[in-house]
Amino acid sequence: MQIDDDRRRARSQMTLAEKASLMSGANFWNTKALGRLGVPSIMLTDGPHGLRKQGGAADHLGLNASLPATCFPTAATLANSWDTDLLRQVGEALGAEAAAESVSVLLGPGLNIKRNPLAGRNFEYFSEDPLLSGRLAAAMIRGIQSNGVAASAKHFAVNSQETHRMSIDEIVDERALHEIYLEGFRIAVTEGGPWTVMSSYNKVNGTYANENRELLEAILRRHWGFDGLVVTDWGGNHDRVAGLVAGNALEMPSTDGVTDREIVAAVEAGALDEAVLDARVDELLALVERTTAARAGAPGVDHDRHHELAVEAARRSVVLLDNARGTLPLGPRSGRVAVIGDFAAAPRYQGAGSSLVNPTRVDSALSALQASGLDVVGYEPGFARRDVPSERRRRRAVRLAQRADVVLLFLGLDESAEAEGVDRAHLRLARNQLALTRELVSLGVPVVVVLSGGAPVELPFAGHVDAIVHGYLAGQGGGRAIADVLTGRANPGGRLAETYPLRYADVPSSATFARTEATSEHRESIYVGYRYFDKVGMPVRYPFGHGLSYTEFAYADLRAGRTSAEVTVTNTGEVAGVETVQLYAEPAGRAEGELRAPRELAGFATVALEPGESATVTIGYAEHAFDVFDPTAHDWRTAPGRYAVLVGASSRDIRLQAALEVEAPAGRAADPAVLAPDVARLPHYLRGDVEHAGDAEYEALLGRALPPSAWPTGRPLTRDDIIAQAKGRRGFGGLLHGLIELSGRVLLRLGKPLAANNTHFALDLPFRSIARMSGGTVDDDMLDGLLLMVNGQFLRGARRTATAWLAQRRRARAARTAAPTVTPPTTTVIDKD
Ligand code: BGC
Repeated sequence: MQIDDDRRRARSQMTLAEKASLMSGANFWNTKALGRLGVPSIMLTDGPHGLRKQGGAADHLGLNASLPATCFPTAATLANSWDTDLLRQVGEALGAEAAAESVSVLLGPGLNIKRNPLAGRNFEYFSEDPLLSGRLAAAMIRGIQSNGVAASAKHFAVNSQETHRMSIDEIVDERALHEIYLEGFRIAVTEGGPWTVMSSYNKVNGTYANENRELLEAILRRHWGFDGLVVTDWGGNHDRVAGLVAGNALEMPSTDGVTDREIVAAVEAGALDEAVLDARVDELLALVERTTAARAGAPGVDHDRHHELAVEAARRSVVLLDNARGTLPLGPRSGRVAVIGDFAAAPRYQGAGSSLVNPTRVDSALSALQASGLDVVGYEPGFARRDVPSERRRRRAVRLAQRADVVLLFLGLDESAEAEGVDRAHLRLARNQLALTRELVSLGVPVVVVLSGGAPVELPFAGHVDAIVHGYLAGQGGGRAIADVLTGRANPGGRLAETYPLRYADVPSSATFARTEATSEHRESIYVGYRYFDKVGMPVRYPFGHGLSYTEFAYADLRAGRTSAEVTVTNTGEVAGVETVQLYAEPAGRAEGELRAPRELAGFATVALEPGESATVTIGYAEHAFDVFDPTAHDWRTAPGRYAVLVGASSRDIRLQAALEVEAPAGRAADPAVLAPDVARLPHYLRGDVEHAGDAEYEALLGRALPPSAWPTGRPLTRDDIIAQAKGRRGFGGLLHGLIELSGRVLLRLGKPLAANNTHFALDLPFRSIARMSGGTVDDDMLDGLLLMVNGQFLRGARRTATAWLAQRRRARAARTAAPTVTPPTTTVIDKD
């Protein structure tokens, strides 16, 4: 975006130090102001499904309270709606809440690909499919930004695991990088036009994402035309100058000017062209310009209206997984209903970490059911969270079930199971929940399971219980939405945006996820989610796109045109409903011999139909529906030939198909060797049997030798190493590690699992971040002292740290008495009322 003349003039009047000062935060959430030239400070806050504007102490872990705001369903939940219009509306509401609080940048949506169901932040992301992720994110971005508030598409890119997220090197081959991990971002950027993008903490193929020129300069700006500002993830700066050169303008949070001075020094030494700094400053000024409306203070928020939208968004996102015996919906004839399960009364409606919202209110399913007119004969928690055994709860639940005609059993992942910074350890529900389920099923009373949780779990009771409803993490209105679905007041229209495997071992990355040292090899390449399960023909619990309804939809007259397909959908049932029409492209008869998924989502649309109503739905093919990313050309190329265009209600429930002949534009056909490489070179990849591809085969796919996956040993730890690497070291390093680990165990014992999770954050912190994240309390000299202590020179290190600390105090005292040369940073004071 072009900045206006005033801003350009302002920039030309800035000193080098002033320009550099704008490149990092004033505090945890605000940029710096430059009062002399009329540049205001702007505020950035989380998050993706609700505003997290902190009124008091600030943090990026969800520790300190934020102002009340509407907690919408998380991205994993909203994704089940497949409804871009709904996402736009939620985005609009999020943007309105941000604008009303004078927040200029809302740090979301998050749209990393769900490579593995155990990834700790899956609840914050949309899908395993990039088209679905990208379209939904784009709609949300448009909604947020319609208020003059910037969205921030995050975390760019390949932030596939939480373990060691600040240091892990995510190794991905070029096809998978573009076709799977970047494609959603490409769509979000080109169709949503976010004004900011947040770079991720991790490295991508050896280079930190925030200083990765290939990602930030070539791909994001040159190829996709991104014209906004790139912000680091909080504490995600590694080498400030390298980040700036790559295109990362704003470092957050404050470093107390340390990295600003690095920028100045680099320019003065001739190591950084001042024009690069000017370009980044212009990006910041443009962002300030674009978000003027937010700072002007928008009208107050109608929280009741937003709550209703939160309920509606949850209703649209609930997935009816199973209703084989037609038990649902419940009605007056269902008889005595027992509500069992802790999640009914104390709903799990969002995940933990930086996205944690302080909701304006929370509806529980239990109270909504009690008010629904059903004959609810009682409620029992049945089990304790975190798998704590409770014989009493079990017994009381069984007794209640014996008095009922149907049991509504609320199960789920508890708060400690899904959190930023930690990957899950397994795919199971708690043992006490599974045991209770078995026992209730054995009573012979119909059991309807209602699930909460932001990611797949193994569902061993599927087929044994009468129905399964998945509410995901449905936000503050989720309880009402779920009750509406159970009672038929709402007809479920949600469709899974990810595959539910039968067991964790079926997931192609299961054997190695999450990697615990230097690298994380994405060995399964493009075979992520349904692309893998379909390639190897593996049975799954519920396929991608699956979801039932209280009505039936019939498909007819599929016509595959050159740019879109058309199909007629009829609601043949008794009640109104929403159908998600999914279009898949299948290279007819070729996928087996090619390095390709058998079918890929090529488009989708939702259609609401009254009983008996029909509609003709036209779905345009996604831009790369018939393309592959050709690593020989480093660009997208068309894979010409015959395709089957499939229309279905899931990736495995294909209702109709039509043939389509696809031609490549002149000079744009994919290299045949990319599509069908020599079988001797990539035998396992051609079959999809990726778990058995050895190092040599993976290296052949990658086109280079694999970097060492283990941490180097026997050398001193450096600023870029993480605290976890001190494990087992002699002296202070090992002690520091041990103490942090111990505090985690103590917190768990004290029943504080969320606080305990934060010890993972601490262990995953690179030593440099101790200084960067301290807002100046720890400077580089102190850090070097600490490193000496960790590396076996305790006394020397302690002396150095103490000397640096004293010097810092002296400098601070001197600064207080001297006149400031630069206008001091503005801290936004938040009125807690
Ligand atoms: C998270 C981001 C978040 C930021 C600010 C980081 O730890 O990764 O998603 O926006 O903190 O809270």
